[in-house]
Amino acid sequence: MAVKDRQVILITGATRGIGNTCAAFLAKRGHAVYGTSRSPGSRPRMMDEFFELLPMDNNDENSIQAVVSGIMEKEGRIDLVVCNAAKTIYGAVENTPPAEGLQQMDVNFMGVARLITAVLPVMRRNRSGTILVMGSIAGRIGLPYNAYYSASKFALEGYVEALRLELAYSGIRIALIEPGSVRTGLDPNFSLFTSGSDNVHATNTAKVLQVIAGWAKEGINPILIARLVHRLMGKKKLRARYTAGLFHQRLALWLKTWLPSRMHEYILLKYFKIAESREE
Ligand SMILES: NC(=O)c1ccc[n+]([C@@H]2O[C@H](COP(=O)([O-])OP(=O)(O)OC[C@H]3O[C@@H](n4cnc5c(N)ncnc54)[C@H](OP(=O)(O)O)[C@@H]3O)[C@@H](O)[C@H]2O)c1
Repeated sequence: MAVKDRQVILITGATRGIGNTCAAFLAKRGHAVYGTSRSPGSRPRMMDEFFELLPMDNNDENSIQAVVSGIMEKEGRIDLVVCNAAKTIYGAVENTPPAEGLQQMDVNFMGVARLITAVLPVMRRNRSGTILVMGSIAGRIGLPYNAYYSASKFALEGYVEALRLELAYSGIRIALIEPGSVRTGLDPNFSLFTSGSDNVHATNTAKVLQVIAGWAKEGINPILIARLVHRLMGKKKLRARYTAGLFHQRLALWLKTWLPSRMHEYILLKYFKIAESREE
């Protein structure tokens, strides 16, 4: 079903990557798109960015509330929210300070939860609205040296599954989009924790990061996610999750369902080239 009417759309993290592509794509189709950034004025706007950028930080409940209230004052409704903003930390669990792990969970998981808590009353009043949560295939398969990121995305899976049941008869729809690798380049602000890495983790972290850097070049075009979002806007009913990624990444998900866990893990260790590493 094509979306003909102008929709009011909020997309978090719209300065780069998937969020930016989605915002530009939907704004070009005539929708009223509001993107967010922690510092909207800090970069020049592109010619084709026909959307407004509002200040919002996933960690700051007041900034989230201000964005939702601002859009409501101007538009009187919010039809679609894409919870996209996130950050990534890498490194062995034993080298990552728990406070950094908590911060990762706070941005990627609680940031989404804060926004959804702010927007649900608005959508409930209208008895309609769609929420798309940017999960990840890493929220279905734990990635080595990316444990806290995976954990934050796994958390979103449980949260959305539960919320779908709470919203079953509300007219509000919620679903996960689970990208594999997308050609967005590595997050320029990613953190890497290597201190204490005079062990097998130093080599392995480097190997895994090399594979992940390759994904950033070979992944799917972010426009495919924008088209998926557009297609989902026009659907009457949404499934719980929509996966979008390279063939071998989707295959890995399928294999996880059918293979014994140790066999699946061995394939992952081989894939990340860390199968041969042995602890001293
Ligand atoms: N790229 C991939 O291969 C891939 C694969 C699977 C899943 N995903 C998921 O898809 C989404 C987008 O990924 P991406 O690669 O396009 O991201 P990205 O290029 O790193 O962009 C992240 C966006 O989030 C914003 N952001 C970062 N930290 C924030 C915070 N604390 N509060 C508010 N906004 C914040 C940034 O804006 P400012 O810096 O301007 O605030 C930026 O616009 C994420 O949820 C990611 O986990 C991506």
